[in-house]
Amino acid sequence: MGNAAIIDGKAFAAGLRGRVKSAVETLVETTGAAPGLAVVLVGDDPASQVYVRNKGTQTLEAGMKSFEFKHPATISQDALLDQVRALNADPAVNGILVQLPLPDHIDDQAVIGAIDPDKDVDGFHVVNVGRLAVGSDQALIPCTPLGCLLMLRDRFGGELAGKSAVIVGRSNIVGKPMFHLLLQENCTVTVAHSKTADLPELCRSADILVAAVGRPEMVQGDWIKPGATVIDVGINRIARPDGGTRLTGDVHFPSAQEVAGAITPVPGGVGPMTIACLLRNTVTAFCRQRGLAELAM
Ligand code: GUN
Repeated sequence: MGNAAIIDGKAFAAGLRGRVKSAVETLVETTGAAPGLAVVLVGDDPASQVYVRNKGTQTLEAGMKSFEFKHPATISQDALLDQVRALNADPAVNGILVQLPLPDHIDDQAVIGAIDPDKDVDGFHVVNVGRLAVGSDQALIPCTPLGCLLMLRDRFGGELAGKSAVIVGRSNIVGKPMFHLLLQENCTVTVAHSKTADLPELCRSADILVAAVGRPEMVQGDWIKPGATVIDVGINRIARPDGGTRLTGDVHFPSAQEVAGAITPVPGGVGPMTIACLLRNTVTAFCRQRGLAELAM
C-alpha cells in the first residue's frame, strides 16, 4: 500500500469556489455589479463543449454573470476577431476566454492577441506572459499552473523557497508558466522535455515534481525522490483490458504512491482546480479594471 498523502484537488477546488463566491458577494454589495465572464466556443468538439458548459455553470454558481458565444467551425477569422473586439468593449465583460483548440484556418495567436490583456483570464496573451516573466503583480496567470501553485503553497505552508523543482514538459499553457511561478517562489527550477538526458535521474533530484507532458503514466515510482510532492497535470484516456477506457495521468500512480510524500490523483487532482482558478482570475480582473483592492481568495 502506498504511503503518499493524496492531495484532494476536488475538495481544494470546492474551497476556492467558496472563497470566490464570498468575494463576489462583497463586490456586488460594494459596487452593485457582478463580475462577468465571456466564453467563446468555435465548432462542436465534444470535450470543448463539456468544458464550456462546466465553465458556464460554475460561473453562475459563484454569483457571476456568464456569457456564452457559440460559432460554427466555418466562422472566418475576421468574424471571430470582431467578436473578441466587441467583448473587449463591453463593460459587463471582465474576463474573456476563447476555448482552444480553434479550427485550422484560424490563427490561435492572432485571436489571443486581440483579447484585451486585462480581460485575458486564460493568461495566454503575450502581455500577460511578459508580465509573469518579469514578476509583475498585474499578470493574469494561466489557470492550470495557478491551480498547481495554490496546492503546492498549501502543502508546504507557503515555504517553497529553496526546494528543487523539476517540471516535465515545456508547453506555453503549463510548463513555461509553472517555471516562472516556482522561480518566483524561490525554488530552484529545471524544465525537462523530450530531449532531456537521463530524465529519470533528473526527476529523482526533485522535491517537487510536476508532470505535464501528455504521456500516459510516463513517470514511474522509481523516478521519484522518497517523500517528494508530485503534481500530475496529465489527463489521458487510455484503453482498458476489458475494451473500455479510463482516465490516467502522466504519472504511474500505483508505483508513485509508494514513494512520494504527497501526490495529486487523476481524476480529482489538478483538473478541478482549473475552472476554480478561472473564476478567481475573473474576480481579479474585475477588481483591477475598477481600481479596487484585490480580495484574498
Ligand atoms: N482548452 C483546453 N484547456 C484550455 C484552457 O485552459 N483555456 C482555453 N482557452 N482553452 C482550453
